[in-house]
Amino acid sequence: MFTIKIAKHMDDVATLAYEPFREMLLRNPKSVLGLATGSSPLGLYKLMAQDFKDSHLSYRNVTTYNLDEYVGLQPDHPQSYHTFMHENLFQYLDLKPENIHVPNGSASDLEDECERYEAALSMTHLDIQLLGVGSNGHIGFNEPGTDFASLTHIVDLKAQTRLDNARFFETLDEVPTQAITMGIASIMRSAHIVLIATSVKKAQAIHDMVNGPVTTKVPCSVLQNHPDVLLVLDEASASLL
Ligand code: GLP
Repeated sequence: MFTIKIAKHMDDVATLAYEPFREMLLRNPKSVLGLATGSSPLGLYKLMAQDFKDSHLSYRNVTTYNLDEYVGLQPDHPQSYHTFMHENLFQYLDLKPENIHVPNGSASDLEDECERYEAALSMTHLDIQLLGVGSNGHIGFNEPGTDFASLTHIVDLKAQTRLDNARFFETLDEVPTQAITMGIASIMRSAHIVLIATSVKKAQAIHDMVNGPVTTKVPCSVLQNHPDVLLVLDEASASLL
């Protein structure tokens, strides 16, 4: 079930997306949050950091699980999702390091790492999972064709996804070809989901997610089967609804 909020300005996107997180954190100081990378959550992360500073809303007992990580990048690589999360959010909050979870894409045994991550996820209960969406409809790094029953696994990134993410690297060749991602079933277990999308590049994916058939060809369409999804959109990404 979707609740759709359309914002006129980027600042409003962040504000609308932050509301359910703030409520959750106030209600349950031991919240378990699923977090995402990419441009879409940046405004939200700024607000979280600002609100932490202003209101001292503590994350001391909060636990976080990130959706995904590139394969082959060490955690301290400038483009790793570990680095992204540290630079854009974690460094500003009082999370305990042991409560922060990001898949390790440089593990020597990646299959083992997937099992370890999924085991940790299955022993907890995500209160809210934050999502962006790929222009091809991927969530996390679950590319078109991914089984809806998938758990944490290794994926081969589609050419379009590598192109979309190339802006963060010096050259396209440097963009990793694989990633480790929470599966679709892992994501769907979260009690609430907040998905942020902006720009006309996401308009088709948003249209297909809300109005299209539920199909593995458009991974985000699976969210039609989830009981509580908040979509926070700008006018451009909502333009085909
Ligand atoms: C990457 C991430 C996704 C994210 C997507 C959209 O592929 N793995 O989790 O949703 O990018 O990114 P952006 O928000 O930069 O458009």
